[in-house]
Amino acid sequence: MAVIVFEDVWKIYRTGRGVEYPALRGVSLEIGEGEFVALLGPSGSGKTTLIYLAGGIDVATRGRVVVNGTDLGRLSESERAKWRRRNVGIVFQFYHLVPTLTVLENVLLPMDLAGHPPKAERRRRALELLDLVGMRDKADKFPSQLSGGEQQRVAIARALAADPPLLLADEPTANLDTENKERVVELLVEANRLGKTVLYATHDPGLASRAGRIVEIRDGRIVRS
Ligand SMILES: Nc1ncnc2c1ncn2[C@@H]1O[C@H](COP(=O)(O)OP(=O)(O)OP(=O)(O)O)[C@@H](O)[C@H]1O
Ligand SMILES: [Mg+2]
Repeated sequence: MAVIVFEDVWKIYRTGRGVEYPALRGVSLEIGEGEFVALLGPSGSGKTTLIYLAGGIDVATRGRVVVNGTDLGRLSESERAKWRRRNVGIVFQFYHLVPTLTVLENVLLPMDLAGHPPKAERRRRALELLDLVGMRDKADKFPSQLSGGEQQRVAIARALAADPPLLLADEPTANLDTENKERVVELLVEANRLGKTVLYATHDPGLASRAGRIVEIRDGRIVRS
């Protein structure tokens, strides 16, 4: 079964002075359940745009985006927000942890929002995930007290918290040193081994080569898939 389906998808940004910029130009793509896919492309090629459409953060201007069987173009913004909580975990380039919450609370948050797993299990699951990413001993720290690599590992634990079938990551290693890059990639591999479909964006061919499949994007078009 395909988890992500793009059918002739266009995303046209309208900037202030009526200027239009087509960031995605007729993207068609299918990603199957359990795949581990790298989205490779240079800066400005449309990686973030594609990831945001797949995650329902933004909507296509034209074409269809169907994820986990849901046509995201048919949902309202609030329906999409609700859909996201159960269907997708997203790792952002700049972590986006909630600064006023501790590491543990950041990982608990998506579970509380999704209402899943049952309340009594959430704390144990959050600590297990923090174990998985090697951050359990920092559970009570705040994001500002962590390094970039540590924040990104917490962000991965958070993305997995509500147990979504799909994990999307937008340049999750962009701001990390070699050792932390490696750790983060290993965590994506591990998430895939645990059964998640994984799509991660990168401009680094070396990192992309770790995936089972490389989808290459240039100027808003898929040039290899
Ligand atoms: N909100 C926006 N308004 C106007 N143009 C935008 C907007 N967001 C992105 N773009 C343009 O769309 C194109 C694709 O942007 P996108 O962020 O998807 O690229 P990217 O591949 O993620 O690049 P990077 O590797 O630098 O993160 C770029 O040319 C960018 O300038
Ligand atoms: Mg980007």
